Amino acid sequence: MGYDLKLRVWRGDENGGRLVDFTVPVEEGEVVLDAIHRLQATQAGDLAVRWNCKAGKCGSCSAEINGKPRLMCMTRLSLFDPQETITVTPMRTFPVIRDLVTDVSFNYEKAKSVPPFTPPADLAPGEYRMQQVDVERSQEFRKCIECFLCQDVCHVIRDHEENKPRFAGPRFFIRYAELDMHPLDTLDRKQQLREEHGIGFCNITKCCTEVCPEGIKITDNAIIPMKERVVDTHYDPVTRLFRKVRSP
Ligand code: SF4
Ligand code: F3S
Ligand code: FES
Repeated sequence: MGYDLKLRVWRGDENGGRLVDFTVPVEEGEVVLDAIHRLQATQAGDLAVRWNCKAGKCGSCSAEINGKPRLMCMTRLSLFDPQETITVTPMRTFPVIRDLVTDVSFNYEKAKSVPPFTPPADLAPGEYRMQQVDVERSQEFRKCIECFLCQDVCHVIRDHEENKPRFAGPRFFIRYAELDMHPLDTLDRKQQLREEHGIGFCNITKCCTEVCPEGIKITDNAIIPMKERVVDTHYDPVTRLFRKVRSP
């Protein structure tokens, strides 16, 4: 059954903005992005919103819904009480361009600075057969759709703009892990991960894992193993504490 949804949407640009209240008719089974599209079509034709697939696969429609980083196209309205006002705001960690659209180029800059996969130069095609265990390990990390919700939620940069130059963030920690766990990669990136990309700043809050729409175990399967690999050569107080707690 349809009903009138109370929707509060942030409107503005880099100079500032405010929350604006709307009432939007919605149908059973719809998602937040449907309501935003109907709002755009009927009441706010200039509302800026980024989206593409509407299937949770392109990573474009990231926003904060009632303060929680989520994909708008994968957030069902049935999650909320029909009487409740749903508040949709842009991702807080990145600069606003307009309304719900943010400038996520921070992430593209970080991506460029991670040295790429480097197999042995003399390896002939077909010479090496990947083991299934190695395939599965990196496959989890390759499910990333680059929605950057994990980057958005991480307090290291969410609350501290000044940390951005020295911290790559959880999305790129899984990239480091994927490369480091690849049996054919020859490059040692651990020093860079520690010194330039700040894995030591991560204090394992696991907020990144909680918001990942692909269910990637970012903290357990990528960050902690990479912290352990880094600590084998460098001191990291968080990993040391974690090891102590874990050991019998
Ligand atoms: Fe999004 Fe998950 Fe990839 Fe982070 S790791 S960018 S939350 S899909
Ligand atoms: Fe940030 Fe995830 Fe670590 S949210 S602090 S990178 S566990
Ligand atoms: Fe593609 Fe939401 S529109 S993930």
